[in-house]
Parts: sequence; structure tokens; C-alpha cells
Amino acid sequence: MADQPQTMPAVVNRAGGPVDNPDSLVDALVPAPAAPTGHDLLVEVRAVSVNPVDVKVRASGNRARKDRILGWDASGVVLAAGPETNLFRVGEEVYYAGSLDRPGSNASRQLVDERIVGSKPTSLSHVEAAALPLTGITAWEALFDKLRLTTESTGTLLVLGAAGGVGSILIQLTKVLTGVKVIAAASRPESRAWAEQLGADVVVDHSDPDLARRILDAAPGGVDYVFSAHSRGRIPLFAEVLRPFGQIVAIDDERDLDFYALKDKSISWHWEFMFTRPRHSWDLTAQHDLLDRIAELVDDGRIRTTLTRTLAPLDATRLREAHRIVETGHTIGKVVVAAEE
Ligand SMILES: NC(=O)c1ccc[n+]([C@@H]2O[C@H](COP(=O)([O-])OP(=O)(O)OC[C@H]3O[C@@H](n4cnc5c(N)ncnc54)[C@H](OP(=O)(O)O)[C@@H]3O)[C@@H](O)[C@H]2O)c1
Repeated sequence: MADQPQTMPAVVNRAGGPVDNPDSLVDALVPAPAAPTGHDLLVEVRAVSVNPVDVKVRASGNRARKDRILGWDASGVVLAAGPETNLFRVGEEVYYAGSLDRPGSNASRQLVDERIVGSKPTSLSHVEAAALPLTGITAWEALFDKLRLTTESTGTLLVLGAAGGVGSILIQLTKVLTGVKVIAAASRPESRAWAEQLGADVVVDHSDPDLARRILDAAPGGVDYVFSAHSRGRIPLFAEVLRPFGQIVAIDDERDLDFYALKDKSISWHWEFMFTRPRHSWDLTAQHDLLDRIAELVDDGRIRTTLTRTLAPLDATRLREAHRIVETGHTIGKVVVAAEE
């Protein structure tokens, strides 16, 4: 590689706590990544998006007491490719979420294993594309690996967290790739409208005290599937609205759930964690393949980016603003930070 710099600009997490802590996100010059080895690509990052995982990792404290680069959603350009790569070449545009165990995307350059990278949708800008990888992987794995939906699938899916990052892509994938009806849960006029625009068949208000009744009005025999990004206190609801032998896939971090109420109807519970594959080096190319499928669906005009807010440039000030938006818990779609204004 011709011009390999020694350092690069990045935003690092130095300490935990609230986002207003000046050490939570800090502009820094850090050592630039070395030339890629093995399956790695070296990518010039053009845009990143912020997810709840960034907020959780930032807030939970930096136990290693070393500056850590957060950021698990990027779109960029391949600068160099390791000797064992065969999926991408220098100059290609890519998008990916990356791995929780490696330095993240809030930097000008990043190393990432090509097996968890997709070709960026050609019809989208880097900013529009950066909204999609982490949530797209989560939604895809939830629908097709865990619930095992196919183009032949019918029935009804309840989506809790419908207007958020994951729900926004999951509704679209369900509508274009299966025959399943979507009941979306959203509590505000703007999040309800967004869920409808993305293809939800019915929208219910998750703060409605009669939520179970509203869901059963829309699915009189009970729903077949639940996607849950908000599981706290919801097991009784799931037990009530799911039909016997129904299935739930959950993605949130609730530790203290009592599943016993699900036994009477033999309801199955699946966890989906999109970092499982990179963390355990398990079937990595499945994420390359699904990101490419999502890019094709975008380029064919069948699904759209979930970008709703763009900030620039990529620095601690803009990332702090993005973290503030995401930690409200009421984001619609995705917030992206562009590398340059
Ligand atoms: N396991 C994984 O691989 C994985 C991947 C991605 C995300 N996650 C986790 O999944 C969760 C959601 O992620 P996200 O990116 O979709 O979040 P997000 O974009 O922040 O979600 C915001 C949406 O959640 C809705 N919401 C808020 N409270 C709710 C409640 N009690 N019940 C139902 N909906 C509610 C809001 O709708 P209203 O404003 O209309 O109320 C808002 O549109 C987070 O905990 C995240 O860490 C896990």
C-alpha cells in the first residue's frame, strides 16, 4: 500500500457514564491500522451509523482503561485487501457492521474480515447505506435463520419496536420476502406513520392498556410470530396473543424474564444476536451473503434505506449528538454520521 499513515483521526471512548462526560467520546489521533492480513480488508470509512449497542458499551464503562473505538455500522471504500481475501478488490464500495471484539468504525480507517462485509448498494450514497448493515443483519437472521420464514410463509407477525432501527428494516424484509402479515407496535403519530410507510398492515399502540385486545382484533386466532426489541414485562402479553406452538424471536438484553407462562401453549423463544457469528467465527460468509441480498433488494427498488437523520462530520461532537438521539429510545429509523460535511 503506497501511503500508509502512522496515525489516523478517530473518536475514542475513554470512560463510561453519561454522554456528557467529556471522556465518553473524545477526538484523538490513534495508531493507524497495519496493512491487512488474512481475510481482512482495510476500509476508508465514509459514514457510520449509531445503534443502541454503541450507547450501551459507551455507558457501561471502559474497564480496560484503554481508549476504545466504538462504532458497528459503516459504509466505505476498500483501500487494501489481505492475502486470503477473494470477495473484494481495492476500490470497491462496501458496507458492514463488523465485530464487537475489534476496533469499531468511528475512525477514518478500519480493518474488517471480508466474510462479514457486503457490497454497498450501488443506488445508495455511503450515508444512506451506513444505516443498514447492523439492523439488516439482525432482522435477516431473526426472520430467516431463527423463525425460518420463507416466501411460502403466511400467518401474522407482531413487531415490538417497529419504527426503530431493526423494526424498520424487518418490516420491509417481511413484506417483500414472505407472505406474512405485519402488525407493527408504535406509540406516536410519527412512528405509526413511518411503520405504515414501510409496509405494516396494521399498527397498534404498544402503550395502549388494551394492547392484547387490539392485537387479537387484527389476528383473531392469535399471532404466529413475535419479533421483540422490547421484552420487559411482555411475557404475559406474548402468552396471550400467540397461538399454540407460536414463536418469539427477541433481540434485547432483558436478563430476568420468566418464560414459564409460555409453556401452556408450547411457545418457542429464540434469541438473536447479530454479533454471534463474528464472536464465534461461525459461518461468517452467511453475513456477507445476506448483506449482498439486502443490497440487491435495495438496488431493485424493493426495500429502501432506513436513514432518517444525517450529521457531519465524524467527530466527538456529532457522535455525542447521535448518542443522545439514540438513547432517547424513540428513534425513528436510523441516525448516520457522515465522515465529511
Ligand atoms: N441482538 C441483536 O443482535 C441486536 C441488534 C440490534 C439491536 N438490538 C437491541 O434491540 C433494541 C432495539 O434496537 P433498535 O436499533 O431497533 O432501537 P431503536 O432504534 O432505538 O428503537 C426505537 C424504537 O423503539 C420503540 N419503542 C421504545 N420503547 C418501546 C416499548 N416499550 N415497546 C415497544 N416499542 C418501543 C420506539 O417507538 P415509539 O417511539 O413509537 O414508542 C422507537 O421507534 C435495543 O435494545 C438494541 O440494543 C439487539
